[in-house]
This record gives sequence, C-alpha cells and structure tokens, in this order.
Amino acid sequence: MSITSQADLTGLQRVSEAVGTTLRQMREYAQPGMTTKELDEYGGRILAALGAKSAPQLAYGFPGWTCISVNNEVAHGIPSARKVLQEGDLVNIDVSAELGGYWADNGGSFVLGTDIHQHQPLVDASRHILRTALSRIRGGVRIADIGGLIEAEARKAGFRVIKNLVGHGVGRSLHEEPSEIPCYYDRHNLKRFKKNSVVAVETFISTRATLAHQLSDGWTLTTKDGSFVAQHEHTVVITDGQPLILTEANHIWE
Ligand code: CO
Ligand code: CO
Repeated sequence: MSITSQADLTGLQRVSEAVGTTLRQMREYAQPGMTTKELDEYGGRILAALGAKSAPQLAYGFPGWTCISVNNEVAHGIPSARKVLQEGDLVNIDVSAELGGYWADNGGSFVLGTDIHQHQPLVDASRHILRTALSRIRGGVRIADIGGLIEAEARKAGFRVIKNLVGHGVGRSLHEEPSEIPCYYDRHNLKRFKKNSVVAVETFISTRATLAHQLSDGWTLTTKDGSFVAQHEHTVVITDGQPLILTEANHIWE
C-alpha cells in the first residue's frame, strides 16, 4: 500500500508495534525443552491481548499463530507439540498480523542458548545485511539493485542467498505489490521502490543451498542438502531518505 494519511501511518504503527512486541517476547520466552507449539501459543496470546489477528492464519489458513522454523527449516515451519527446542538450535520466528485493517510482517533468526553448532556467524550476517540493505532503500532505487546488494554482502561473508523466497509489499493485506523483493540481482525485475509505499524487506542467507523446497505438509520450506538459512525481516515505509522502520521500535537483537 501507499500511505496517504496520518490515519494510515498510525494504523501501520499500531500493528507493527503488535508484531514487534510479540516477536521480542516470544524470543525471550523460548527455552530448550519447550515445544514450538508452546512457544506459538504464547505468541498467540500476546497477539490476542494486543487485539491483533494472526496474518498467516487469516490470509492463508496457516495451522498456527506464528511461523516457527527450526534448523534446516527455512520458513513457514508449523508449530508442533512434537517439536522440542534444543540448546544451540537455529530458530526463526516470523510474526505477521492484522489490526484495524492494517497488516505488518516481522521476523528474525537466533541461536537458542549456547551456540554449540556455530550458527551465530550466519545469524549475524543476515541481521547485518538487512540493516545494510535498509540503509540503501529509498524512493526511486531499483528493487533489483537491493537484491544485488544483499547477494554481494552474503558472498562477502562466505554465504549464499535463497532465490525463491522474497520480500514483498504489505499494509492492506499480507502480500501486495511489489510482489517480489528478491535477495539477488534479478535483471528482469525493473520495478523501483516508491516513496510512501510500505514493504516487508527480508533476507534469506544460506550456508550453501540457493533454493527452498516445500515439504509434503504443504507449508514447511527446507533445503534439500541440509543447508542452514537465517532470515531477518522488517516492515518499512519508503521515504526520500532512510526508510521508516515500523517494526523496529520494540526489539533490537544485538
Ligand atoms: Co514474515
Ligand atoms: Co514477509
């Protein structure tokens, strides 16, 4: 969507604060020994208390309040009572919600507890690359150039990018125009970021694989070769200068 009034901005700030708060509190609550379903239900209670509705559930009938992807799962992991979190797991929580007709999307990967499997460099690279990409996005910049930047930064850090998972427009629904903000230079993508538009920018930084595949559950995306992938995502408003990071206020994972 494109912001055309103060009411639009206020509505987006409210839903963004709800998803940001939920994401931060879920991360703080996550412990080894907990199931991903317990963690998701905690997040669902926070969303409900804030008056927000789970976006993946509302828009796509996703079987959970939030997406929780562990280790080789890349995205859209289904919260499960059989999936027990372990020390050192690479965990991604992606929270998106609707509140008052506005939608926001916010995600992040982290290492649970002690980093016994050395996932931290991948997580740090993803978080740092999102920050670098956001610092370069403004009205008129080509979407393909930001993808090229993400890919180049990943390569510099010794990683690759997943090419079939993308950022997207957001605001009046979960996925809107521009429909694809990829993590690589797609020369066919001639679109540019537009001032006052709302987008969810996301990294998908991979140890090796460049494609994610859907499992037979119809949701979970994984890599075929056991690669690990870290994702960070913010909902932002494009301006003539630095974007306004709507989902940032409540959690800075440093
Ligand atoms: Co998301
Ligand atoms: Co998204």
